[in-house]
Amino acid sequence: YLLGIDVGTSATKTVLFDENCQAIASASEEYPLYQPQNGWAEQHPEDWHQATVHTIQAVLTKSKVPAADVKGIGLSGQMHGLVMLDEANQVIRPAIIWCDQRTAKECEEITQKVGANRLMEITANPALTGFTASKILWVRNHEPENYAKCRHILLPKDYVRFCLTGEYATEVSDASGMQLLDIPNRCWSDEILEKLEIDRALLGKVYESPEVTGTLTAQSAKLLGLTTATVVAGGAGDNAAAAVGTGTVRDGRAFTTIGTSGVVFAHSSKITIDPKGRVHTFCCAVPNCWHVMGVTQAAGLSLSWYLDNFCTNYKEKAKLANVSFYDYINKEAESVPMGSNKLLYLPYLMGERTPHLDPNCRGVFFGLSAIHKQADLLRAVMEGVSYSLKDCQSILKEMGLEVEQMMACGGGSKSGLWRQILADMFGCSVKTAASQEGAVLGVAILAGVAAGVFTDVPTACDQFIAQDESCQPIAAHQDYYSKGHVLYQQLYEQLQNQYR
Ligand code: XUL
Repeated sequence: YLLGIDVGTSATKTVLFDENCQAIASASEEYPLYQPQNGWAEQHPEDWHQATVHTIQAVLTKSKVPAADVKGIGLSGQMHGLVMLDEANQVIRPAIIWCDQRTAKECEEITQKVGANRLMEITANPALTGFTASKILWVRNHEPENYAKCRHILLPKDYVRFCLTGEYATEVSDASGMQLLDIPNRCWSDEILEKLEIDRALLGKVYESPEVTGTLTAQSAKLLGLTTATVVAGGAGDNAAAAVGTGTVRDGRAFTTIGTSGVVFAHSSKITIDPKGRVHTFCCAVPNCWHVMGVTQAAGLSLSWYLDNFCTNYKEKAKLANVSFYDYINKEAESVPMGSNKLLYLPYLMGERTPHLDPNCRGVFFGLSAIHKQADLLRAVMEGVSYSLKDCQSILKEMGLEVEQMMACGGGSKSGLWRQILADMFGCSVKTAASQEGAVLGVAILAGVAAGVFTDVPTACDQFIAQDESCQPIAAHQDYYSKGHVLYQQLYEQLQNQYR
């Protein structure tokens, strides 16, 4: 058996798979996201660890598999978050996570200290507020007492790894999002570390994703009900993990995910960089390969924000209609015509990465009328997020990353309506995998390779990942949405200087 764990933004999810990658048992545990100021986002690393422990215990209890039969654990997680530990391995301050936008000044500092060209050559990306390096500098600039105490810097899933194995380690896909990694050479960049005056001793060892990074400590094995022989693989950042879980491990393949964030991701056996830096080029979970991805900051986050604040009546209505909450939401959105009765939503609740790289912009509902009801805004949110994903896809196309196949994963992709909107906007078929586990399945496969159960990542994907449903683009919808996309893009152009 293999365990896949995804330390997400809204919850940690753990799934136990058998050696044919069939899910046997699953559990998840939610935790809060703190927003102490507009544009800031923090979480407590201990919440991730506790959720990991509880969900592992839950799947083992449910499945009753013998501890010694669990061969490997794979860790996936939200990328970029900054966890700082002191010399007693205590967390110094809450983690500053991926969608936090406080570090615009630190990004200027990075560009000035490293030089824009060298930054692109080494880290394959311009300085971005989402990335970890700018968060490290922010703590040094604003909380020098915390920085002085810091002995270890870890990413979210790597903090959980530390709790499980006692190792300070990471792997290339997640480390790529720190902006401290030499992306072509897949190792820490001494040049960047020196120019930013960050001590290399603060960082853990970097592995490839399917390598063994350690085994469970006696203490955590006992707590979890596992053995100290269980290996913990490098694993991957959530998107690189989802790539494995959807079979996006060869050129010509791509997927889109709607989790808290949204991503359009294409595999590439060569390094391909957008000179404007609108999409990220990172190492992927397949050794010696890379990927390019565009990121929508608030994808599922837009939907959960809208539902939590403005649709508190939906739970009751779903109950009365005797359908699940998500089926109810889909029916509501489906009851509204394409274009949401001329209502357009810009999903910039936490600024936007692709294509604007703008930490200051914020969300918009454009065209509100007295005819609009809850359901119109709901559909507009789904369409607005999809327009942003369309922006991502357009840049990948512009870069010559030809996509033969677009898979969909993440919570939002469970909605047939949302997948159809994506197919209509992308102009290509959007497919789901037979197993919708995405990132957790991906890291279970990586753990299987690390534990010697599978030979390599692409072979395991060929063997275990089957496709399921496919949504085909409908010509009339494509036409409608391509006109809508023009208005969507014009709105940002008109508004971009008004946010400051
Ligand atoms: C990717 C990114 C997000 C997070 C959260 O660059 O910031 O996709 O990994 O899921």
